[in-house]
Amino acid sequence: MALRTLDSLGSLAGKRVIVRVDFNVPLKDGVITDDGRVRAALPTITALVGQGARVIAVSHLGRPDGAPDAKYSLAPVAERLAELLDAPVVFASDTVGASAQEVVAGLGDGQVAVLENLRFNAGETAKDDAVRGAFAAELAALGDVLVSDGFGVVHRKQASVYDLAELLPSAAGLLIEKEVDVLDRLTERPERPYAVVLGGSKVSDKLGVIEHLLPRVDKILVGGGMLFTFLAAQGHKVGKSLLEEDQLDTVRGYIATAAERGVELVLPVDAVMAAGFAADAAHVVAPADALEDTEFGASGMGLDIGPGTAKLFAAAIRDAKTVFWNGPMGVFEMAAFAAGTKDVAQALTEVDGLSVVGGGDSAAAVRQLGFDDEQFGHISTGGGASLEFLEGKKLPGLEILGWEA
Ligand code: 3PG
Repeated sequence: MALRTLDSLGSLAGKRVIVRVDFNVPLKDGVITDDGRVRAALPTITALVGQGARVIAVSHLGRPDGAPDAKYSLAPVAERLAELLDAPVVFASDTVGASAQEVVAGLGDGQVAVLENLRFNAGETAKDDAVRGAFAAELAALGDVLVSDGFGVVHRKQASVYDLAELLPSAAGLLIEKEVDVLDRLTERPERPYAVVLGGSKVSDKLGVIEHLLPRVDKILVGGGMLFTFLAAQGHKVGKSLLEEDQLDTVRGYIATAAERGVELVLPVDAVMAAGFAADAAHVVAPADALEDTEFGASGMGLDIGPGTAKLFAAAIRDAKTVFWNGPMGVFEMAAFAAGTKDVAQALTEVDGLSVVGGGDSAAAVRQLGFDDEQFGHISTGGGASLEFLEGKKLPGLEILGWEA
């Protein structure tokens, strides 16, 4: 069955529309460091405002413990939303309490409110269906319909994502519609050659996606902290680099399966070895089979792919017609170890086809390194959600909107 989309809800003029967004943005000292997820929510919010709906935006932020916690307040996000919309946004200091009820009752047609963090209520994330359902019922009392648009959280069976959609007429917003369209193209009908670039620190986070993608792609490029487990699986010494010993057999299995299936597994030929994990650590490039033969010996730590690998990866990416990238190639937050991630991002901007950046870290990385969203085919707002989609898993927040994987 297909996803129910916004038009299925008919005219929303004058209706109280709860919009479940994912405003889970990175904050430093109360300041948003990447507002990509707020921007991604704008098309739906603007469309609803344009129809004269009364927009009630709800979201989680971080992982508070089911009780109010000032450092996870959505207040800075409401302010940012007002700037981006260039219109006032009313903020309720609770989610279903007196403040929320008053704010919603005072909303005029075409006006926008943001309610406080959903996860300040234990019912949002409760495992017990009845507890979650009770919280969803309190939320439902605030609105007439639900527009679900928080793609980043559709893999969570949580009250506002799942149960609420059973209580109110509901449909996907424009962001979820776009995310599903792009990710479905990657899963069902990728133009070939199809290359997947995986980074990030742990192989164990990527097991499902590697297994699901191996029979479907032409090339898998492995960078980031997880590359050292691959190199170790090939018999190389990796010094003090990240290594998941318990994944070595699994990784050897992947290397064998890739060879059997004719999937090209592109592994690093060099890495940047550093004296330690610090922005100003001394560092040097070493070949993949001699990572411990530097001045740092066995105490060297790999913090980025090397320039030879970056060149190899860039060429493979540019040759592909479809590319999905998840996970930074190195510690991009430190300038000395950002080159690999930057080179991969640059190559993605040069793809003659569909390039997709998935995952919070990779999305933040491309913006922090100075790229514009428009240079890529699509930047997914989903981290875990986009990976689980590509793993072929059933996502509760999509199924409840009519989607069948
Ligand atoms: C994310 O950042 O991936 C989403 O907002 C989901 O957040 P969660 O992992 O805390 O559920």
